[in-house]
Amino acid sequence: MKVAIDGPAGSGKSTVAHAIADRCGLTLLDTGAMYRSVALACVERGLDLEDRDAVAEVARAVAITFGKDERGQTVQLDGKDVTSAIRTPEIDKAVSPVSANPLVREAMVAQQRAIGEGIDVVAEGRDIGTVVFPDAEVKVFLTADPAARALRRAVQRDGGDAAKDADATADESAVAEILADLIRRDEYDSNREASPLRPAEDAVHIDSSDKTVDEVVDLIVKLMEEAR
Ligand code: DC
Repeated sequence: MKVAIDGPAGSGKSTVAHAIADRCGLTLLDTGAMYRSVALACVERGLDLEDRDAVAEVARAVAITFGKDERGQTVQLDGKDVTSAIRTPEIDKAVSPVSANPLVREAMVAQQRAIGEGIDVVAEGRDIGTVVFPDAEVKVFLTADPAARALRRAVQRDGGDAAKDADATADESAVAEILADLIRRDEYDSNREASPLRPAEDAVHIDSSDKTVDEVVDLIVKLMEEAR
């Protein structure tokens, strides 16, 4: 079975996809981590991120792998652990032009399909239900209002989890800065030419603003049971 979870940054895709992978024994595929890893590789090489061919060459050359340790899922770039290095504000910015590059997307989609070949996967991203796994049995488009998404990201950056702790708070100026960046990224992701963020026609829309992780996961597990 393939479960596709698409939606904007901070909608809770990652937390929900992790929970489904754990609860239902599916392999987790975090496609955002792959675009982030390519962005990091390009930044490390000092490349001009608008140089489509040079960036695509890096995307084709690097090896991105996933592992597991006490932190949960880990990401390796050419064998080096980059789990934390791909989640900095610098990479948040660098990943936009990298993921808008159609040649990079071509390389990533091919790798994502190869990873999913013949196995049960819960994949999260922007184009899973539309491009990567258009035949996925379950497609979810997860949203949340921008203020809720910004707060979650800010709490996450402080090492907390707003989805599990309803009373979690974060520094107001940090939330405002993240909110501005989320809005910028939403615009960019939704308006780019290559695979813009949009729901698949047959996706089920879930708004997670006022829902706990468990409530969202329960809804998706129900969809999975109906699809079997
Ligand atoms: O989900 P995330 O924030 O880790 O994603 C990082 C960036 O990669 C984000 O700007 C959108 C882009 N992305 C994409 O274009 N397609 C995907 N399938 C996953 C992520």
